[in-house]
Amino acid sequence: MARETWATRLGFILAAVGSAVGLGNIWRFPFLTGEAGGAAFLVVYLLFVAVIGLPVLLVELVIGRRSNRNPIGAFEALEAPNWKFAGVVGAVAGFIILSYYSVVGGWVIQYLIASLTGAYAANPGEYFLSTASGLNAVAFHALFMGLVATVVALGIRDGLERAAKVMVPSIVFLLVVLAGYGSTLSGAGAAYSYYLSPDVGTIVANATSLIPDAAGQAFFTLSLGMGVMVTYASYLGEDRNLFRDAGTIVVIDTLVAFLAGLVVFPFLFTQGVEPGSGGAGAVFISLATAFAELPAGGVVGAVFFFMLGIAALTSAFSILEVVVSYVVDTYGVARKPATVAIAGIIFLVGIPTALDLTYLDTYDLLANNILLILGGLLLSLFVGWRYAGEAIEELRKGSGDATLSVAWIWIVRLLVPAVLLYTLYLGIEGYAEFLVETYIA
Ligand code: PFF
Repeated sequence: MARETWATRLGFILAAVGSAVGLGNIWRFPFLTGEAGGAAFLVVYLLFVAVIGLPVLLVELVIGRRSNRNPIGAFEALEAPNWKFAGVVGAVAGFIILSYYSVVGGWVIQYLIASLTGAYAANPGEYFLSTASGLNAVAFHALFMGLVATVVALGIRDGLERAAKVMVPSIVFLLVVLAGYGSTLSGAGAAYSYYLSPDVGTIVANATSLIPDAAGQAFFTLSLGMGVMVTYASYLGEDRNLFRDAGTIVVIDTLVAFLAGLVVFPFLFTQGVEPGSGGAGAVFISLATAFAELPAGGVVGAVFFFMLGIAALTSAFSILEVVVSYVVDTYGVARKPATVAIAGIIFLVGIPTALDLTYLDTYDLLANNILLILGGLLLSLFVGWRYAGEAIEELRKGSGDATLSVAWIWIVRLLVPAVLLYTLYLGIEGYAEFLVETYIA
């Protein structure tokens, strides 16, 4: 029986962009950039997106479309069952990521409500602290996880994907408006030089921390390393040009992140907040301040957080979908009970984060700077060394560009593994230091 395919090219692009654009762009990107020193981080991040992220995205799309399977089944379909553990690494990463992603999703719902009630207007900094941890954070984490599980259990992805069609342009529009407003603030000049003029000396001096952080962010924001894009491409017809699709996904995702930085930094600089000090709260605090100042800011804020909530849902949905499809396919459990059980466990794993922000970094660094990189490394080694001929053939369907395909396979064979291996080493080293500093020293 023929397997289901996306009805239109738009269906695939919407789902893939819906997965890519999320909290990673609007929440994680600006706060990491702030912590890592501004423009230096932006440069290394953009390099990783273009030179490593784009080729790895193509790796996932090729595996998915060739195998027509989920990321674990794919290796069986491609007659390489020994590589299945690459899919397992991804599933573990997904499990960890969703546990705290859902906590932050819960903050977004609280901010949506607070925009309407005016709760953050008086003191955005204090409001963030009361939002981020405590029993209310646990409750809204439960609500967000419940929404995600409902979507996955009922399979109402159609509705969500259509929402994504409205959401992405609306988010871009609102970010452009907010960035325009930000440009009128007194701190804008300092913010732009911090965000946009990189200093080579700083990049070189901080390379060992910039590299794993920028690589982890590139993978996280593009939903790479855990098989989401494998799964989505498995429903893809053969006439699509994968180069073009991958390019579209990368450009939209990067644009949204870049705009988020243009919004956040002018507000932080104007308020005299050290851009690295806000941590996970930086974005929420600066946006809340913006909405409190703007005319009709409550309504603008509510619309913004609603959009952000949809963006977060379409991403969270793709993560849960991958984990559920592993369990359903591997153990033959029915979809609904599997979804409820997995969502329940992920909810429990996320509770420490909702009670104490320290755990956020503990989960986040492990998943992004180590597991996603490892997942991407394994998938690239597989395609580059075990499956190169077929991969090129697959890529050329619908695109036909021979030179580009050959250039791609050499990048995947040599450049990507070398860079990711080094990144992984730095990521593990950095994580060990982080654990010692946080829990022992
Ligand atoms: N790309 C999403 C974001 O930027 O918010 C997060 C994400 C989704 C990460 C799916 C990983 C993933 F597999």
